[in-house]
Amino acid sequence: VPEGLRALLLGRIRDVADHPAPGVVFKDITPLLADPAAFSALTEALAELCRKHGATKVVGLEARGFILAAPAAERAGLGFIPVRKAGKLPGATLSQAYDLEYGSAEIEIHAEDLSADDRVLVIDDVLATGGTAEASLRLIRRAGAQVVGLAVLLEIGFLAGRDRVLTALEGAPFEALITV
Ligand code: PRP
Repeated sequence: VPEGLRALLLGRIRDVADHPAPGVVFKDITPLLADPAAFSALTEALAELCRKHGATKVVGLEARGFILAAPAAERAGLGFIPVRKAGKLPGATLSQAYDLEYGSAEIEIHAEDLSADDRVLVIDDVLATGGTAEASLRLIRRAGAQVVGLAVLLEIGFLAGRDRVLTALEGAPFEALITV
């Protein structure tokens, strides 16, 4: 990522102390989304990753991942597929449970949206522990498609999500536009 783009994006991400719980510093991307130049530059950078990796479909992760993945897919001329939290998708779904710090979560995809020919780039806003991304990679493979990469706007380095997703990616690339 060129330094100018990195600085533009990082300069529009706001640190919010003690959200959603005391001691947590929340990375708020809403200032970036509200800035047309930064939002457009981000969308183009993600669309370029779609082209670079020869993706045929883009999967976005609810909810903030949708905001990044859908315009990138459209810009790259690709279809967009949502991975949603359990219970939201109306059709035949595949479900994947994963562990959170406290408790567990479950995400779902419409299996019929992917085929064996598909090369999927997964896009999300933030990589923290990597649990959500790892579960999404499982879903895509269970749907029979190939994963060609995982791209995030922001990687939170100290949580070691990278190690977790690199294993799950089985050699496909991990692209973080910014790492903090
Ligand atoms: C956040 C973020 C990622 C995920 C990263 O989503 O958007 O999807 O957590 O965390 P992990 O790497 O530890 O799994 P969240 O579940 O808060 O949902 P939201 O986008 O709907 O707010």
